Formats: sequence, structure tokens, C-alpha cells
Amino acid sequence: MHGQALRLLCSLLMPVTFLCTDLLPRVTFPRGDSRRILTSFSQDGVFNYDTFLLSEDEGTLYVGARDTILSLRVDSPGSMELTGLIKWQPFPGKKQECVFKKKSNLTECFNFLRIMVPVNKTHLYVCGTYAFSPDCSYISLQNFSLVPALQDGKGQCPFDPQHKHTYILVDGELYTGTMNNFQGNEPIISRTLGSRALLKTDAFLRWLNVDAGFVASVNIPGDEKVYFFFEETAEEFDFLEKLTVSRVARVCKNDVGGEKVLQKKWTTFLKAQLTCSQPGHFPFNVIHHAFVLPQPEGDAIFYGVFTSQWQMGEVGSTAVCAFSREAIERVFNGKYKELNKESSRWMTYNGDVASPRPGSCSVGSSVDKTLTFMKNHFLMDGKVEPMTKQPLLVKQNEKYTRIVVHQTQDVSGTVYNVMFLGTDRGFLHKAVVAASGAHIIEEIQLFKDPEPVQNLLFSPEKDILYVGHSKGVLQVPLANCSVYRSCAECILARDPYCAWDRHSRSCQETRATNKNMSDWLQDVEKGLPGAMCHQASGRGRATPRSWDDSGSSLVKTLSPVLNSLVRLTCPQVSALANYTWSYPEQMPPAWLMVLDDRTLVIIAQPQTAGEYKCWASENGHRQAVAHYVVGDPTGGDIAEEGLGWGTGMQGKHRSYWTQFVTVTVLLSVTLAVVMAIAAFSYHDRLKAKSKVQGCSTPEATKVSSQEKVPLKGGRELQLQGPFQEGAKGPEACCVQLEGVYQNIDADNNTLNSSLGTGEHSQGAALDKA
Ligand SMILES: *[C@@H]1O[C@H](CO)[C@@H](O)[C@H](O)[C@H]1NC(C)=O
Ligand SMILES: *[C@@H]1O[C@H](CO)[C@@H](O)[C@H](O)[C@H]1NC(C)=O
Ligand SMILES: *[C@@H]1O[C@H](CO)[C@@H](O)[C@H](O)[C@H]1NC(C)=O
Ligand SMILES: *[C@@H]1O[C@H](CO)[C@@H](O)[C@H](O)[C@H]1NC(C)=O
Ligand SMILES: *[C@@H]1O[C@H](CO)[C@@H](O)[C@H](O)[C@H]1NC(C)=O
Ligand SMILES: *[C@@H]1O[C@H](CO)[C@@H](O)[C@H](O)[C@H]1NC(C)=O
Repeated sequence: MHGQALRLLCSLLMPVTFLCTDLLPRVTFPRGDSRRILTSFSQDGVFNYDTFLLSEDEGTLYVGARDTILSLRVDSPGSMELTGLIKWQPFPGKKQECVFKKKSNLTECFNFLRIMVPVNKTHLYVCGTYAFSPDCSYISLQNFSLVPALQDGKGQCPFDPQHKHTYILVDGELYTGTMNNFQGNEPIISRTLGSRALLKTDAFLRWLNVDAGFVASVNIPGDEKVYFFFEETAEEFDFLEKLTVSRVARVCKNDVGGEKVLQKKWTTFLKAQLTCSQPGHFPFNVIHHAFVLPQPEGDAIFYGVFTSQWQMGEVGSTAVCAFSREAIERVFNGKYKELNKESSRWMTYNGDVASPRPGSCSVGSSVDKTLTFMKNHFLMDGKVEPMTKQPLLVKQNEKYTRIVVHQTQDVSGTVYNVMFLGTDRGFLHKAVVAASGAHIIEEIQLFKDPEPVQNLLFSPEKDILYVGHSKGVLQVPLANCSVYRSCAECILARDPYCAWDRHSRSCQETRATNKNMSDWLQDVEKGLPGAMCHQASGRGRATPRSWDDSGSSLVKTLSPVLNSLVRLTCPQVSALANYTWSYPEQMPPAWLMVLDDRTLVIIAQPQTAGEYKCWASENGHRQAVAHYVVGDPTGGDIAEEGLGWGTGMQGKHRSYWTQFVTVTVLLSVTLAVVMAIAAFSYHDRLKAKSKVQGCSTPEATKVSSQEKVPLKGGRELQLQGPFQEGAKGPEACCVQLEGVYQNIDADNNTLNSSLGTGEHSQGAALDKA
């Protein structure tokens, strides 16, 4: 009943959310686009390129795939050459056992490589699922071969290739978070390898919930702690429905386990809740990946990618939140929670706290009292709040699976953090965090078929990203600035890696050069080309070259047949631009029809002859991106070959009526949609008492058109794109869901009563209906 109520609530909210504007990638490069060339590697018969290890000199990439370990030479960007291949398959007996345990012979009973770390200069340590019987081994790098001795990988490597896991090598010791059993209900954080005794979490004391799923582990260079990021069902809330929370856990590197109490167990394990939320959305409570960006003086920023357990719409939205190390440490140095035996509720612990503080890295192994306290006080009372109150970025209808953050400088020396986000449908988003909010610079389609980005690794020496997926490995350069061919385009992109060099008159990569960049032009913060580029173009050429590859600055001349439909296309140079058509003055506006994709449709008449231009305007910069001259179908003053025709609309045989009816139907559909939208948003405004104003669905507004001031010698038709609101950020028009949001985010005990009751009544109403 509860779940039903919640679904009802979602469905009530959904239409409103869809009316909200979204952050859009400014440019999209489809797969195979010559403007964003990706180097790819794949080996026949090898799948699931899941695990990466880059050699210290970044010249070799080791890839752990299914039943296979590959060594790729990557010392020159743009090339990936296979230099070694090891087959590491489960014995037939193991496979049989796996099949016997009802696992699939075709998809699961393989050795999926999960861990690859360098133990010394000559050997790697590797682990794989080994047909649901995890195993580890060494690889000799001298001849790139597997050292025969197998070791049990239980506790380090998952059994099931679907299980989430994380690992990190710190000072020669391997810290892992994974499932410790076949069933997948015993999570474990352990430390192995090295010379010290094995340490692990205590399963009996339930330091981790049975469904904990690990997504990342980090150690800041020089820091004494190792952090783990995971999601699990929260037990501290009396919430009727299963409530997932995101967590950060901490252990100390110098932990050696207890002497009498907590033998071979962590004595420093603490965990805390991470929060990421935005008014108007359900809390983003499920973490998917995390990345740490070390900062000067031992500081660090932790980035996390979050979705919500209560998703709106088919795909739901993703948020990126950033946490300071200081905020995390503050919670770990704050109050503990403890389970009240009588009420079975988690309460704030207000009793005495020993010194040195339990769980801190200065507690010895023999302080029994402190260690006994640690057994039941592993959950912190406080929650870690993001650095900025709002998420850095919220993207609707998108699920990010991976994040990498890279710090760079613009030409004036301002530091920018650039986020690379892999999606579950195989796209890569590059976003910069500016003072005014996040801006998605570009979107690259990585694979032919939609599938999640499995791994994303940044190579700082080479300025390259490696992407792992089910069929291979890709190399993605950070930017290709030469796609921006004018000063204005270069500035509008807001790409910190690209700036306009006035001397070479080209948009250039700032990192690839050690030239003096003091007079290069760039505006990452606002992307306003205005005065900057005007000054740059200086004497002579004021208008930059065309925006796209189709040579749109060239005039296309058409000589249509009387009464035929003429389709004039307009390229989308930026998803954030507004598009406008200018057309001949004598033209009756009712004869114009603009389609979803900015295409202008006209019926060829004597009055329709003349000049048509599609203008893109963005941040005060306006430019024609398509230019047509349409001839008079009766006079035939222009008799050249027609260009830019749409799909077979030309033809003498078509009757006037077909065209007329088409246009009439299109027009009435448009009107109907516009009216429906208007009525709909009015309705919602009444209902939600919120500022939905100015929001609109992309489908509807793209078709709607309105007349604007006449240009000299012509008139203009403005397309109200869905784009113009993009920069404002989603909160600009989202319904305030304050009540629900605060309740879920509020303290444990209030949560059930307020949200729960409301929903029960809704549920009841639904049942009666
Ligand atoms: C960069 O863009 C230019 C211009 O579109 C193109 O010719 C070139 O191949 C691209 N290079 C890469 C590496 O994508
Ligand atoms: C698994 O499938 C392979 C062929 O795909 C077959 O040769 C093998 O006998 C199967 N193993 C078991 C245990 O069914
Ligand atoms: C590196 O580690 C492997 C595996 O533990 C070991 O066999 C080898 O002797 C080590 N080599 C050196 C140089 O320490
Ligand atoms: C690889 O080299 C190691 C020692 O460096 C040696 O023990 C091993 O037999 C070699 N393996 C192969 C397949 O040549
Ligand atoms: C770069 O050039 C500007 C003038 O063009 C000059 O003032 C500045 O000192 C130069 N900087 C370096 C590091 O050479
Ligand atoms: C697009 O047009 C609207 C209204 O005409 C304007 O408010 C908005 O700033 C424009 N967007 C851009 C990117 O120029």
C-alpha cells in the first residue's frame, strides 16, 4: 500500500516535472562524427573490458576483460596497440559447478576480471570472479604471463559479475569493498596483501547492511585514512518502505585490529550518511560512483553521482554533489548513534566519549573499553552535507554511471573543475562548473548500441580519457577545439580547454601549448563573444565564417514547382541558441510552417519567392546558419538546379489539394498542441501554486511560432526553442516540493509520521476509488 501511494505521488508530480527545463548539452557529436574522432580497440572474442590499470609512465594500459587480460601500448595518443594477451579461464570443473548452481553458462560462468594492482615493479596482482568462485593470481610483467599459483579471492573479489565492488591499493596493501559470499548478502570491507594481518568488517555486528553496494574507495595522498562510498538500506529510519541511503565509511591505515576485543577486525570503522538533494525533487539518495579531486595542503573534494530511489519519469534524473573533506571529517568527529535495545530505534548517543576518541586513528589495539564501544557505535549521528547547498548539476532523463573530474585553468589562470560523466546509454558529457552553475559543453555518443559506460579513467600525462565497455576500449581526447571555427563559436563553447588565438585566428587547445597565452580570448564563465570577438576581428573581417560543415554560408538557390512543398532545413549549431527565420516581406505568415527540427515549410507561390535565412542567436551573438533563395514558380526568374530539397516533396504530379490538406492538418495539430499546453500549464499553476510559468515541453514549443519585428526587406519568424531557459537551471521553474523533501531529509523519527500519514490517506483514497 505504501509503495502504491508513493507511485501515485510520483505520477501526480511527473507532468509538472516534465514541464521544467533541463540542462542541455550545447553540442552533440554522434558516433563516428569526424569532428570528434575516438580511437577504439577491441579484440575478437573478448568482451567486458571492465577493469583498467595504467602503468606508472602511462605508456601501457592493462585491461581486465572476460577470461582475458590485455596489455595495450598507449604511449602515443590516438593509438592503442596490443602487446600482450593472457587467457585466464575457469577450469571446466569450475564452470560445471557454476552451471550446477543455476548460473548461466552463456553469460555468467566466466572469469570476469575485477581487480588489477601493481604489487611491485615486476608483478601485478589480479582477481576475477572465476565462475562464481573468485580467484586471484599474479602476472609476471617480464614475459606478460600468469604465475600459476592461484589464491582464494573471497573477500576481495565479488562472486557475481553483477555485484558492485571497489578496491584501492595503498602502501602495498589492498583495501576492498565487496560481497563476501555466493548469495550476495554478506558485504565486507577488508584489507589484504602486504605483511600485516588481514582485517575485515564484522558481519555479526552488522556494521554494513546486507545489501550494501560499494561504488568507490579513495585515499588522499599522504592521508592516514581510506574512505569507502556505498549505498545500503538504512536501518536508522523508521520508514515503512525500504529506504536507501548513500554512505561514506572510513578506516585508518594504521589499524591492526584488536588484541582481545575485535581481533582481526577493524577497530576504526565508522560510517555516515551522505546527502544530496534539491528542492522540487525527491532526495538523490542512491550513489552510483564517486571521485576524489585532491586539493593543495592535503585537502580534497569528493564528487558523487546520485539518483533517487523514487524516480520520476521513465529514466529519472541524476545529480552530482560535491563534498569537502572537512565536512566529512566534521561528521566523523561528531556524535555517534546507537541502537536503543528497548525501542529498537537508533538514537543519538549523548554519553561520555573516551579519549583518544573511539574510531580515531590514534587508538591503540589494546584499549579494550574503547574497542568495545566501537562494536556498537559505528554509525555517526550527523549527515554529510554537500559543499554547495544545491547539487552542482542536475540532469533530467539521464543516468550517469561514472564520473571523472579534472582540474584545469583558463587563460587568465582561474581554476575550473571539468566533469566527465559517462551515461548508462553510452554517452559522455563534459561539463564545467562555473560560478553561475554547471554548463554541459558537449555530449559524445561513444558506442553504436546503447549500453552503460563501465569504466572511465583519466590519464593526466596524456590528457586522454579511457572508456571501457562490453565490446572494447575507447580513447577520448579532452577536447577538439578546431571544431569551433570562429572567434564567437570558440567563446560560446565555454570550454576551458579551448581559447581563441588572435594571431593564428584559430580556436586552440590551451593545454597542448606552452605559448604565451596572455592575449588569447576565452570566457568560460559567461561565454559572451560580444565585444571580445569584435575587437579580435579588428580591421577588416567582422563576420566570422560559417558555423557548420554543410557550408551554410553558401547561398542555396531553389526553383520549385508551383504549389509544391518546399522544405528549408536549418542546422542546429547549438542546443542553447534561439533560431529565427527571416523571409520575404510579401509573404503571408500563414503560409509558413516550422517543423520540430527548425525546418521551414512553404508552398511554392509567386509570393513565396525571395530570400530566406535561418539565424541562430546565442548570448547576444547572431548569425545566419542557412541561406536560401527561392525562385518564383510562375515567373521562373531563377532557373538553376534546386538544392536543399526535403524528402521528395518536389514533383509535378502532386495535386494542390494534397499539399493544402497536409498544411492544414499540420497547422491544426500545432494549434491543438499549443492550446493543450496552455491549458495544461494553467491547470498545474492552479494546482501546485508554483512558478511553472515560462516552462514548456520541448515538443510543444518547437512547433509553436510567433511573428516578430520585420527585418529590412523581409520579415522574421521566431522559434521559441526549449533551449532558451536551459542556462537558468532546473530550479527556475520546478514545483516546490518542500514538504516531502524536508520530511525525508529530516531526522529519523519525524520521518515516518509526517510523510507516512499523508500517503496513507492518499493510498486509502485510491483504494476506495
Ligand atoms: C577535430 O575537428 C576537425 C574539424 O572539424 C576535424 O577535421 C578533425 O578531424 C577533428 N579531430 C579529432 C581528433 O577529432
Ligand atoms: C557451456 O557451453 C559450452 C559451449 O558454449 C559447452 O561446450 C559446455 O559443455 C557447456 N558447459 C556446461 C557445463 O554446460
Ligand atoms: C614481486 O612480487 C611477486 C609476487 O609476490 C614476487 O614473486 C616477486 O619476487 C616480487 N619481486 C620483487 C622484485 O620484489
Ligand atoms: C615468465 O618469466 C618468469 C620469470 O621471470 C618465469 O618463471 C616463467 O616461467 C616465464 N613464463 C613463461 C611462460 O615464459
Ligand atoms: C606574454 O606576452 C605579454 C605581451 O604580449 C607580455 O606582457 C607578458 O610578459 C608575456 N608573458 C610571458 C610569460 O612571456
Ligand atoms: C532566446 O530568446 C529569448 C526570448 O526571445 C531570450 O530571453 C533568450 O535570452 C534567448 N536565448 C539566447 C541564448 O540568446
